Amino acid sequence: MMSLLVLSRLITSVCRVPCHGGLCNFARALSASSVTNKSTVVGAQESIAAIVGSQNVSASEAVREQHSHDESYHIPVSSPDLVVWPRSTEEVSQVVQICRDHHTPIVPFGTGTGLEGGVLGQSGSVCINLTKMDEVLDLHTEDFDVTVQPGVTRLALNHHLKDHGMWFPIDPGADASLGGMAATGASGTNAVQYGTMKENVINLEVVLPDGSILHTAGEGSRPRKNSAGYNLTSLFVGSEGTLGIITKATLRIYGMPEMMMSAVCSFETVNAAVESVTQVLQCGIPIARIEFLDEKAVDATNKYSNLNNKVAPTLFLEFHGSEASIKSQIETVGDIVAMNGGSNFEWADKMEDRNKLWKARHDIWYASLAVRPGCKGLSTDVCVPISQMPRVILETIDDLQRMGFMYTIVGHVGDGNFHCLLMMDREGDEIKKAKEFTHILGRRAISAGGTCTGEHGIGLGKKQLLIEEVGDVGINIMRQIKHTIDPLNIMNPGKVL
Ligand SMILES: Cc1cc2nc3c(=O)[nH]c(=O)nc-3n(C[C@H](O)[C@H](O)[C@H](O)COP(=O)(O)OP(=O)(O)OC[C@H]3O[C@@H](n4cnc5c(N)ncnc54)[C@H](O)[C@@H]3O)c2cc1C
Ligand SMILES: *[C@@H]1O[C@H](CO)[C@@H](O)[C@H](O)[C@H]1NC(C)=O
Ligand SMILES: *[C@@H]1O[C@H](CO)[C@@H](O)[C@H](O)[C@H]1NC(C)=O
Ligand SMILES: *[C@@H]1O[C@H](CO)[C@@H](O)[C@H](O)[C@H]1NC(C)=O
Ligand SMILES: *[C@@H]1O[C@H](CO)[C@@H](O)[C@H](O)[C@H]1NC(C)=O
Repeated sequence: MMSLLVLSRLITSVCRVPCHGGLCNFARALSASSVTNKSTVVGAQESIAAIVGSQNVSASEAVREQHSHDESYHIPVSSPDLVVWPRSTEEVSQVVQICRDHHTPIVPFGTGTGLEGGVLGQSGSVCINLTKMDEVLDLHTEDFDVTVQPGVTRLALNHHLKDHGMWFPIDPGADASLGGMAATGASGTNAVQYGTMKENVINLEVVLPDGSILHTAGEGSRPRKNSAGYNLTSLFVGSEGTLGIITKATLRIYGMPEMMMSAVCSFETVNAAVESVTQVLQCGIPIARIEFLDEKAVDATNKYSNLNNKVAPTLFLEFHGSEASIKSQIETVGDIVAMNGGSNFEWADKMEDRNKLWKARHDIWYASLAVRPGCKGLSTDVCVPISQMPRVILETIDDLQRMGFMYTIVGHVGDGNFHCLLMMDREGDEIKKAKEFTHILGRRAISAGGTCTGEHGIGLGKKQLLIEEVGDVGINIMRQIKHTIDPLNIMNPGKVL
């Protein structure tokens, strides 16, 4: 309650300030370097150790280096000065207060599987590794919700839910932390049927940059619907650690479907595959997953995961439901696929066959990297309206070939979201060229009515695209929100804005 009051007062005060003078200087400072220096962190270290215990703090070179990067192509300039492992919300809050007093930047760290450089360290900062906060707290099977600490990973949660006949379907492939998934607005292969983190987070507990503790929907609140004021939960989902540290998440969960069936089918052309997806969705078929792989991606997974799928544009599909409903869905999808010249479906209903298929899909990032040993990977992430997807994908393939990249394409095409995975030489100017390509593609998606990022976030590399996407008025509102909540700019500075 207290923190909500503080927040609303802050919002009121900023809403009266037009964007000139102080706020614009602040906007400029957002991208400037860190606000502190080494000696301040050394000063903070003792006080932090007094809170979390000296075993739960490290300034060792190796530990700091490990916490300086994620899975993205971004090369860290430096490491954090200190890594801290809190175990409770109260510890997080106290550590944040110390950092605030020292004007020390804070970088929240989940499992580091992010693809946009969101956790990249900077010297003078304190990194907070949240993986020791890994308890499943409250499970309400009768209400279909669960509250977890931020370090619980998606597989750990599903392991816990399995005994209750429930599951949490958001699946970014990597075994990411749920705090990190909420922070990036993650989704993945099941979003067509179940939505993304945006639709599945009901409430968050967040430690704000002044150390106060916010419950975005009110403490203990978990109704199915809600129209009480601004949606603060939604504000924090996808905020990439720039507004506060998520210390608890209340999530929607689902009953295990009676039956799941997966299939693979291949096509003569990319267009035929993607058009099939568009038609399946336009028929309103409640498909759970529908994933596209171009022929290079199929080839890479065949080699990496020891499969022998036909090397051609391919769809991986999955249906969830009762036997009867799945049967009728399969028939309709079969007709659509045949109309587009697709090959016969290969079906898998046994768990181990399905797991093998989706494991191959999830390993595609590593399968692609293995095509060019020693390379650096970059994944694009545009998302466009379904009707625009065939054109955007075909134009993108032209660009990739013209610019001479080594690449694979995979897509959560049921959402209009696809990834080009570029395998770049670490030396030379390929990384520069790839950044250029990211911007060409981002602009194409935006002008097609889409977004530069469907699920990975803005991080470090898409700040310019964000400005173009939301426009001057939009970006100013975002900067004002950031300034209201984090006036000292200590919460993951330099990211997103
Ligand atoms: C092979 C592979 C496949 C992937 N596929 C997908 C996919 O299909 N869909 C998808 O959405 N993503 C995908 N990703 C990206 C990644 O898994 C997601 O972005 C995931 O949500 C990151 O979670 P994390 O715990 O690893 O976060 P991290 O990488 O640790 O952090 C990501 C961002 O969140 C912030 N953060 C982390 N924890 C917190 C917290 N508790 N409070 C506040 N901020 C926090 C960090 O500061 C950072 O800005 C993939 C990644 C890999 C490596
Ligand atoms: C570093 O921080 C200390 C303590 O706040 C301050 O006295 C000193 O002037 C700072 N040094 C630089 C170079 O900013
Ligand atoms: C620090 O870590 C240790 C072991 O990992 C743990 O037992 C302890 O409770 C932690 N916290 C404090 C305040 O010491
Ligand atoms: C974060 O801490 C956990 C221990 O809780 C550790 O296993 C993990 O490797 C750490 N993350 C990094 C990037 O080192
Ligand atoms: C508020 O946002 C959360 C997270 O995006 C979402 O799950 C919830 O449905 C939203 N609530 C309303 C009333 O729109």
